[in-house]
Amino acid sequence: MNDSEIFIVGANGQLGTALRALYPNAKSADIDELDITSSESVASFDWSTIKFIINAAAYTNVDGAETAEGRIAAWKVNATAVGHLVQAAITHDITIVHVSSDYVFDGTVNPHLETEDLSPLGVYAQSKAAGDLVVGLAPKNYLLRTSWVIGEGKNFVLTMKSLAEQGIKPSVVNDQIGRLTFTTDLASAIAHLLFNNAPYGTYNFTNDGDSVSWADIASIVYDTTGYSSSDVTGVTTAEYYNGKQGIAPRPLQSTLSLDKIKATGFVPRDWREALSEYLTKKTAEES
Ligand SMILES: NC(=O)c1ccc[n+]([C@@H]2O[C@H](COP(=O)([O-])OP(=O)(O)OC[C@H]3O[C@@H](n4cnc5c(N)ncnc54)[C@H](OP(=O)(O)O)[C@@H]3O)[C@@H](O)[C@H]2O)c1
Repeated sequence: MNDSEIFIVGANGQLGTALRALYPNAKSADIDELDITSSESVASFDWSTIKFIINAAAYTNVDGAETAEGRIAAWKVNATAVGHLVQAAITHDITIVHVSSDYVFDGTVNPHLETEDLSPLGVYAQSKAAGDLVVGLAPKNYLLRTSWVIGEGKNFVLTMKSLAEQGIKPSVVNDQIGRLTFTTDLASAIAHLLFNNAPYGTYNFTNDGDSVSWADIASIVYDTTGYSSSDVTGVTTAEYYNGKQGIAPRPLQSTLSLDKIKATGFVPRDWREALSEYLTKKTAEES
């Protein structure tokens, strides 16, 4: 496989940035170069040199998707646009890699297997579940479900680091449980599936390790960056959002089983190791 045959969609997002670093010769586009919500733009695109589409584009504003405009945007990007890419993949005999979410489940099962029935709670979740169904129509597809993504760009770890530096003592939810996924590791897992001709289909991917709450992760970020974990107060999701309007329901249990991807020979790193390396890198970049 030659990485110049890869086309990365949503190239400027967290995952797109990691994919571009891993595949320096890949072609890539974000919304300004190819708006995947336009069937005409996707159909008229020159696919002749492309053998693999990796779709890292998404509408990821979970609460924004609960608004009237957000609902439309989420469905356009997360479902309709996936259909356009699937159509291109089928027409041009291209393998499509699509990324989905723990949010396609209601969070009552632990851990989530690839075979679990869809049970999305909010609008973002429903639009992602629709994308999962659409991508399944492509004969050559890899659907990777992931959770709690951390890379370059706005994310929970950088938000907590910034709050710590500002001396803020945050309340953080302690009843949503899962594992972090670092985009560098997710990009490597995608490469592993493609380079090893793994069987097509659905794979979970997060970093490995124990399942913890967002409050636990916030405490580790505070400790690791030289502040005190006692500055973080754990609260329930219900307490955190009490009185706030327009909040999407969240799955409480986000842990994804990693047995299937491990059976292909991929060994996911522990999220604690990846988090430590990430914070060291971010601190070094600032100094
Ligand atoms: N972030 C998480 O915690 C999380 C958790 C589970 C699953 N996931 C999934 O993981 C994948 C990657 O997430 P991420 O965190 O990397 O997302 P992200 O940082 O929000 O990146 C998404 C990218 O898609 C682009 N995009 C939006 N609409 C587009 C369009 N019509 N055409 C082309 N590009 C478009 C966005 O551009 P603009 O910024 O200009 O809109 C952005 O660059 C997504 O499928 C997401 O659903 C994420």
